[in-house]
Amino acid sequence: MGNTVSLTMDGKAIEASEDQTILEAARENGIYIPTLCQYAGTTNVGACRVCLVEVEKARSLVASCCMPVSSGMVIRTDTKAVRDAQRMIVEFLWASGDHNCLACESNGACELQDLVYWLGIEKPRFPIEPPGYAVEKTNTMISRDLNKCILCGRCVRACNEIQVNEVLDFARRGYRAKVGPAFDADYINSECYFCGECVDACPVGAITFAQARFSGRPWELKKTRTTCTYCGVGCQMDINTHNGKIVKVTGNRNYGLPNQGSLCVKGKFAIDFVQHPDRLKTPLIRKNGILTEATWDEAYDLIARNFKTIKETHGPDSIAGLASARCTNEENYLFQKFMRAAIGTNNVDHCARL
Ligand code: FES
Repeated sequence: MGNTVSLTMDGKAIEASEDQTILEAARENGIYIPTLCQYAGTTNVGACRVCLVEVEKARSLVASCCMPVSSGMVIRTDTKAVRDAQRMIVEFLWASGDHNCLACESNGACELQDLVYWLGIEKPRFPIEPPGYAVEKTNTMISRDLNKCILCGRCVRACNEIQVNEVLDFARRGYRAKVGPAFDADYINSECYFCGECVDACPVGAITFAQARFSGRPWELKKTRTTCTYCGVGCQMDINTHNGKIVKVTGNRNYGLPNQGSLCVKGKFAIDFVQHPDRLKTPLIRKNGILTEATWDEAYDLIARNFKTIKETHGPDSIAGLASARCTNEENYLFQKFMRAAIGTNNVDHCARL
């Protein structure tokens, strides 16, 4: 925490730490400044310029996400010059992409859409000329429509600074600039790990969950916080359901540790098994060579009988147990207890050690 400085924002005397940006000081004091490229946990790059504010004696409007506060600053966030500049930027963004909200997966959860509405823009003054890229549908997890990309770079920084996968970057310049993996490859043909961090970071509908397409509008989805079952880290996540079915899994940065909203490919995308028609819901016992549905009591009786026979015939150390990282600590504790106390062996291990 740096030294405290005094400044004025929208006529209000405020105090801020000298290592804060104008945007951070504004948020702390309940003053709204719109943003698009700013993304917590990554470098402020000042790419979109919608966070412009007026600073007295500055030569031009400044990007509040990048400008540190200083003592005696007089800042105005809602002047005509600020709104005119924001409007023009948003109109340019709208006009340079295919922002067709009717069919967009992010309709209702799009920061550009929110900004258009907040600024009261009916229509851009400029001709709408999307670049005409093909929508990338070459994998089953992430869909990319670069016609909707606003080049904010949040996906690039999320990939490089949060997940440190270093798969995404900018290519080309000016009107032809685009974001993607090296050599303009599709995700599936790149080094992408499919962690999905870019999907969560995208403020518009350019990078979306392929599995969730047409499965429910953002406002129809019910989010339920849960703990990922794939390993022992205990990552927190939101299961998004619609009509009782899982549509997608999203990270939630508000949950903090242990994963700060980030997930791995399994936690984020490997959800099909939950509702898969082939999922085993009852035990199967092989009878005359054929797997036959049985009750849990029948299954447990069979297991207990066979354990007992093996133990009596070959001794307890002829049995070994391998626990799973998908179980909770409590389940794994009970498992080793069962092996030691009930079976009588220390032959117990865990798949995470392999
Ligand atoms: Fe500040 Fe984009 S949010 S420049």
